[in-house]
Amino acid sequence: MDFLKIYQTPKLSGHIDISGAKNSALPILTATLLSQTPLTISNLPNVADVNTLLKLLEILGAEYQSLTPHRITINTQRVRETKATYDIVRKMRASILVLGPLLARFGHCEVSLPGGCAIGARPVDLHIKAMEKMGAKVDIQNGYIVAQAPQGLKGATIVFDKITVTGTENVLMAASLAKGKTKIINAAKEPEVIQLCEILQNAGVSIEGIGTHELEIIGSDGELLKMQDIAVIPDRIEAGTYLCAGAITNSSITLNKIIPHHLEAITDKLQEIGFGFEITHDSLTLLPAPKRKAFEITTTEYPGFPTDMQAQFMALALVCEGISSIEEKLFENRFMHVSELQRMGANITLKGHTANIIGGEDLKGADVMATDLRASSALVLAGLVAQGSTQVHRIYHLDRGYEKLEIKLQNLGAKIERLKE
Ligand code: UD1
Repeated sequence: MDFLKIYQTPKLSGHIDISGAKNSALPILTATLLSQTPLTISNLPNVADVNTLLKLLEILGAEYQSLTPHRITINTQRVRETKATYDIVRKMRASILVLGPLLARFGHCEVSLPGGCAIGARPVDLHIKAMEKMGAKVDIQNGYIVAQAPQGLKGATIVFDKITVTGTENVLMAASLAKGKTKIINAAKEPEVIQLCEILQNAGVSIEGIGTHELEIIGSDGELLKMQDIAVIPDRIEAGTYLCAGAITNSSITLNKIIPHHLEAITDKLQEIGFGFEITHDSLTLLPAPKRKAFEITTTEYPGFPTDMQAQFMALALVCEGISSIEEKLFENRFMHVSELQRMGANITLKGHTANIIGGEDLKGADVMATDLRASSALVLAGLVAQGSTQVHRIYHLDRGYEKLEIKLQNLGAKIERLKE
């Protein structure tokens, strides 16, 4: 198993390119199940989650070819298998994204229940209820969601009790092939959801309300879509993580290949802390802060502050002056990085869903363990400012969503290496 060794690095500098968004690539890949023709996907991040999903699609019968490390052609015409088995789904909850497309195309499918995960229970009840509302009969059998709609799915009004990103994406894909009109009320409007809407729209599906919490989709009544070639949007969470690397070392770094307005919640918070920015249409330079002030964060849906950036900002709070507070609203158990940061000397107290972080304590390098994807990157960030060296173990979590993290950090001047246990 690999681990990362990070040495204290006083300053970072230079520029890096941001990869395609994992959370956009995943629904795009499952949406190819709706396509009647092969298509090319570019700017695909080379991360473990994408490879896991490609493996699942291959098991279902899809054929793909890598043209370059970030570009594939994929053909789903020969897909006949409709079962997503436990061994794949347990590796990646987002495998649930095959539910909508498989059910809409074949009228039946079986998808393993993802089960709990490190950051909380994360149920899929809203996905299931939505499919039922669209006419499917759904049973839970031996840990599998067994869904059937032999006459095809029908348009319906879906009111989500909670805003769910992959839930909205599943319904969008199912509704595109359903008969008639589907309304999604309380839809997610993350940039990744918007990209999926635009892709379906380019494939001829009528979608109104893109970028709002109410979407209206007219389905094709079972006819597969003429999907066009796609370029995955930049990863706003990867970009935010590198901004935090610059911020924790109070350095000037430049990120290229980004969409600055997707990062507004993150850059606004960094500005409040004391940082400046130079922004072009596709790049962003972080300017050091004269003084780094404590801050408050409450995680929420887009365009609010993303839960996927909470752990990285907690690492940043450790070098800010004063007491910062972070309230986690979306996932009940997303504070597992706290005890690992404490092992490095961090002064953090937890009360319910809120963490209070006292900045300014000296951090010391230690052996720490990655517990989930974003928690792992927070430990790497803390390692950049901790005295001596920090070893982050179990980095397979990190490899799920960050492409060549250590190489990109090395390009910014960080002292970091990947080693074997
Ligand atoms: C997606 C992102 C993940 C991000 C999260 C929140 C992908 C692949 N993953 O995850 O990185 O952290 O959005 O921005 O895009 N919920 C239910 N029942 C359901 C579905 C969700 O109760 O059926 C709850 C969840 O437990 C959570 C909230 O709704 O409290 C939001 O979760 P959701 O948006 O669905 O997260 P994911 O789509 O799994």
